[in-house]
Amino acid sequence: MQFKLPLFPEQASSVAVQVDAFYLFLVLITTFFSLLVALLILFFVIKYRKRPGVEAEQIHGSTLLEIVWTVIPLGISMVIFVWGAVLYYHIENPPANALEIYGVGKQWMWKFQHPGGQREINTLHVPTGRPVKVTLISQDVIHDFFVPAFRVKTDVLPNRYVYSWFTPTVPGSYHLFCSQYCGTKHSAMIGEVIVQKPDDYAAWLASGKAEGSLASMGEKLFQEFGCGTCHRPDSGARGPSLQGLYGRPVRLSDNRVVVADDNYIRESILNPNAKIVSGFQPIMPTFQGVVSEEGLIQITEYIKHLSVQESEPLNNRTNPTELRDNEVPTIQQELQQGSQPAPTPGKKP
Ligand code: CUA
Repeated sequence: MQFKLPLFPEQASSVAVQVDAFYLFLVLITTFFSLLVALLILFFVIKYRKRPGVEAEQIHGSTLLEIVWTVIPLGISMVIFVWGAVLYYHIENPPANALEIYGVGKQWMWKFQHPGGQREINTLHVPTGRPVKVTLISQDVIHDFFVPAFRVKTDVLPNRYVYSWFTPTVPGSYHLFCSQYCGTKHSAMIGEVIVQKPDDYAAWLASGKAEGSLASMGEKLFQEFGCGTCHRPDSGARGPSLQGLYGRPVRLSDNRVVVADDNYIRESILNPNAKIVSGFQPIMPTFQGVVSEEGLIQITEYIKHLSVQESEPLNNRTNPTELRDNEVPTIQQELQQGSQPAPTPGKKP
């Protein structure tokens, strides 16, 4: 459904059309009933005005009328609810095949990283015709990622990854706003989303100077912080193996099972004692203040890469929690036999 009003920003994403159609429906239905009520009041005021010699007729109750004015609004409300819920669900759930881009908000700028390692500030290049998922986090206060032309708006929080996704449809340059008051220069926290045809986007990516892919930068950090010392992919390691970890369920020491997603990995690096993997001791030091938000994203990307690229025999399993339980005795024995001091950040493997 296409309609153009000068009041509206351009429609440059696949959901923009759907959001506008829903909004138009709300406006029309509200207008219709507002006019209906106003006109009926006017009509009744005139029709039932006081006239000499005419006695007012008193009417008490009408079941039919009650049913009609209950059922019709209920039907309309349900249409709004179901339509809105379906649209919301669609907007809130990025498709699995989306192009992944990472964004960090800070006072007062937007920093973006592409999987190939290209970085940009207050500018975001995206291709047309495929879903783009932006994983967002703030390194200070609450910001809000808002691209009016895409009809997407997501609060960007500290300490938690949130997601925004869209499929750009029309090449061009569009406003990017921070739409949550975040300090004195909030109004300057603006930028540009540049939508390009896939070929132009590929050319732009190739022209960007990248130190290496996000995963390879993450691997460097992984080495630098000595993560491999404990997270070796063998059953004798002091920390759980990270091979094939991403996106899988993990059994915790309190028997809860959580999914190893971005937020879990980030928390495990910054606050390792929050969730202890079943069979392991809480010996990992925190990396709070040691790794930047960008660094955390790179390490997470590296861990994701371990899931996709390498699958060692140990991790060729359908249910990782099952094997973790089998690993328990070995690791506990090892810890009891010769407990070694906890590794410190920065220690080389
Ligand atoms: Cu960031 Cu307002």
